[in-house]
Parts: sequence; structure tokens; C-alpha cells
Amino acid sequence: MIVTLRFLFLLSLALFSTLPTHLHASFSHQSHIELPSQTHQSWQKQTHIHFFYHDLRTADNPTIVQIIDTPKNVPYGFGTTFVVDNPMTEGPELSSKPVGRAQGIFGLASLNDLGAFMLINFAFMQGDYAGSSLSMLGRNPIAELNKEMPIVGGTGVFRFATGYAIANDLQQLSTPEHVVVEYNVTVRHSSLM
Ligand SMILES: *[C@@H]1O[C@H](CO)[C@@H](O)[C@H](O)[C@H]1NC(C)=O
Repeated sequence: MIVTLRFLFLLSLALFSTLPTHLHASFSHQSHIELPSQTHQSWQKQTHIHFFYHDLRTADNPTIVQIIDTPKNVPYGFGTTFVVDNPMTEGPELSSKPVGRAQGIFGLASLNDLGAFMLINFAFMQGDYAGSSLSMLGRNPIAELNKEMPIVGGTGVFRFATGYAIANDLQQLSTPEHVVVEYNVTVRHSSLM
């Protein structure tokens, strides 16, 4: 056991000396990060993931379903709530390489502007992250550009994840039935999987 830990520690030092590393598919890249504590340095890494997410509101096989409606006189659609199981792809086209599914719930939760709460799990299903997930939980200032939301945890290769997501609607590619959102996710997580 001691030998194994010692090996892992030496291995992590070896990896640390080769930054930045590009270990994964083109939709993401990783680098080791410098933290003040030596112990943390040896087990944390930083990963950047870039993908596109598709809200499909088509009559047949929608991936977003409204589950709560609210009275018309409520400002900013307050209370309107949706469940999604949206495809995530490597490129902006729905036909590009699948990356996983974005599954969760979001709703309009602001009385004074267009703002949503988001509770979305990004379930990765392809490549090195297959079987791992990231959880996003936070406020989405819908009308803004570069909407920032926290990443609060993860599973698999993303154990101990913490970080943030930046999202933008791609207006030029979107239609009322198919909304395309570009995501850049930056997370720090355990490197011991
Ligand atoms: C994501 O990062 C890419 C590359 O830096 C950039 O071109 C794109 O505008 C970013 N998109 C978002 C939503 O942050």
C-alpha cells in the first residue's frame, strides 16, 4: 500500500512536469494547476470542456418538457419550470459527435428580471469521460451574454469537482424549435481515478 501511494505520488510529479497536457479528445484539454499546498498539487488537475447543448422543442421526441405553467399575470414567467434530457455534442451541429446528455430541471425564479435556477447534470457518455458526470447548480441570468454558473460536484474522473460554466445561446444557429447553447466548463478535480 505504501509502495502504491509512493508510486502514485511520483507519477503525479512526473505528470506535473509535463504541463500543459492534452490527454483527451479535442473537445477538452487538461492541465495541472499550481496550488500553495504540496499535498494538493499532487492530486488535483484542471480540465476544460467545450461542448454544445441542444434544447429540442419539436412536437415529436422533444428533449425539453415544460412541467409547471404559471398564470399569465406573473412577471417574467416566474415559476415556469422545465425538465430536460438534452443531447450534448462536440460541434454546434446536432449531427456532430455526441458527448453526452444534459439532464435536469430549470425554472424561471426571478420576479424582477429574466433569471432561472439551473440544476443540470452533464452525463458524459463518450471517450475518456464516459460514465463520469458534472453537476451544475446556480442562477442563469438568461438575457446576459456569457452566463456564468457554478459546477458544484462530479463523479468518476470528476470526483471532488468544483468550477464554473460559461454559456451562450447561439442565436444564429437557433430556431424556436431547436435552441443551441455553447458551453465552456472549467473544473478542478481529483486526478486519482
Ligand atoms: C468558449 O471558448 C472558445 C475558445 O476559447 C471561444 O471561442 C468561445 O467563444 C467560448 N464560448 C463561451 C460560451 O464561453
